[in-house]
Amino acid sequence: MVDLLQVSVLPPFLMERLEQKYTIHDFIDPADPEALLEEVGPKIRGILAGGMKGPNAKLINSLPNLEIISSFSVGFDATDVVAAQARGVIVTHTPEVLTGDVADLAMAFILMAPRRIGESERYLRKGKWLQGRMDLGTTVRGKRLGILGLGRIGKAVARRAEVFGLHIGYFDIKPMGDLPYRSYATLMDLAEASDILLVACEGGEANRNVVNAEVIEAIGPEGFLVNTARGPIVDQAALVAALRDRKLAGAALDVFDGEPQVPAELIAMENVVLTPHIASSTHETRRAMGDLVYDNLRAHFAGKPVLTPVPPQLG
Ligand code: 8YV
Repeated sequence: MVDLLQVSVLPPFLMERLEQKYTIHDFIDPADPEALLEEVGPKIRGILAGGMKGPNAKLINSLPNLEIISSFSVGFDATDVVAAQARGVIVTHTPEVLTGDVADLAMAFILMAPRRIGESERYLRKGKWLQGRMDLGTTVRGKRLGILGLGRIGKAVARRAEVFGLHIGYFDIKPMGDLPYRSYATLMDLAEASDILLVACEGGEANRNVVNAEVIEAIGPEGFLVNTARGPIVDQAALVAALRDRKLAGAALDVFDGEPQVPAELIAMENVVLTPHIASSTHETRRAMGDLVYDNLRAHFAGKPVLTPVPPQLG
């Protein structure tokens, strides 16, 4: 049986399938990583990774017979893809299958924050309705949605948002061709022209803190920030400060810098919707993601091309 190293927690249904075909070595939280690698390192031909936990260059380069890294995620920022591809190691991810669910959560957030849906639910549960009606929210219809990163997920949110009467603008580093949405030359230009800014770009070092204090303030005191991509894309301290100082009306966040830790200031704020990285967390999508992880490995070890490789990231 082929030996795999597991660096991230994966759902039980996927582990059951994998265990029938592979010898899996648990490297999620090893007590003595060096000893384990010395024992099994030369046998390892594949790594099982996740969106929040993947192998770094050191681990990749310490496995002489590594051929493939299969990640249970669309985002591959947790894996050092450049180090892997430089050595000819294939990296696979799970695009497409989660697009709909992630876009659904983003659309829900786009409604929830301006309409104060989370806040109003807490209002009722705390018995405050008995003392009077809640303050008013903000209509999304006719407002401008700015999308940072018009990839698969960004486009899927745009399609949904159009139905809700939002005007769509975007900024993307890649040329997008002919689209019915307004393109902006810079993120600042987009932020200035947005009532709601959605973060839907890739994570990773290149995008760390690109949504900084200036961008957040450009959305404005009536504006909202929505993030269903990766926490570190947003300067979290700047976001907390902008919300506290009323330079931004509200936010809806599924991802955080340093998750699962969430700043206490955010937790205490009524005008912020917070969820624990659940955008792809449905039975259907997780099953499809697991099947892709499995099928990519199966194809590779059968000598066939993988189904969903991460495109080349080298220079
Ligand atoms: C998962 C994700 O929650 O696909 C991604 O990039 O962040 C999420 O779908 C995560 O990868 C689970 O490991």
